[in-house]
Amino acid sequence: MSQKIWTDADALIEHQMIGDDPVMTSIVAANKAAGLPAIDVSPAQGRLLEVLVRTSGAKRILEIGTLGGYSTVWMARALPEDGRIVTMEMEPLHAATAKANFERAGVAGKIDLRLGAAIASLEALAAENPAPFDMIFIDADKPNNQPYIDYAHRLGRKGGLVICDNVIRNGDIVGASNSDPNVTGARDALATMGQRNRFVATAIQTVGSKGYDGFAIGVIA
Ligand code: SAH
Ligand code: DHB
Ligand code: MG
Repeated sequence: MSQKIWTDADALIEHQMIGDDPVMTSIVAANKAAGLPAIDVSPAQGRLLEVLVRTSGAKRILEIGTLGGYSTVWMARALPEDGRIVTMEMEPLHAATAKANFERAGVAGKIDLRLGAAIASLEALAAENPAPFDMIFIDADKPNNQPYIDYAHRLGRKGGLVICDNVIRNGDIVGASNSDPNVTGARDALATMGQRNRFVATAIQTVGSKGYDGFAIGVIA
């Protein structure tokens, strides 16, 4: 089994289950034109985020790691009219590209983009005493997964959904020898969401057009 068959199978999923999506296609093109890295979620994963928003009935979503807003738009389109997303991004170019994409997708009114390092943005957000979030998607710098998950626990409601991307990293998390901070950050995510007094969680390994990786998913206990 190889990357080619995973990509081909994702193409089949996209053809059979997602279909032409001109808005999403234009966002991918805009991100590429701006020189953003192609590390957004895949279309199949974007649809999963949509399914999770719909099935949970989430109205308040927190995202850490916006990039060009591809994942943000998948979630925003799934929200009811009065739903809102706070999304956090450190790179001004990524944030500006995302804002243009939110306008293009017609969801700008639902999205509050906070520019800056996410730890500082999360601390500022916490100081605002926001209503609890129903869903938190963590997809930023992996070495900070543990503090991000701690903030998710603090800012999310009991029963709220927490998803943390990229926790398998081509299987590099296995064994203790790999000290790449992205890999240790992935292990931190499993350990932190694995704290059973705080979360009921698991992790699912995935293959597809974005390679072999996985996500942790759980609810706040
Ligand atoms: N969720 C996006 C992909 C995010 S990629 C999608 O699926 O479409 C990770 C993003 O996190 C990048 O844009 C990167 O600039 C941002 N990032 C990295 N470190 C950060 C930090 N400390 N604070 C906020 N954003 C950060
Ligand atoms: C990387 C980051 C991501 O969020 C992702 O989904 C894939 C790759 C990265 O930093 O390489
Ligand atoms: Mg990711």
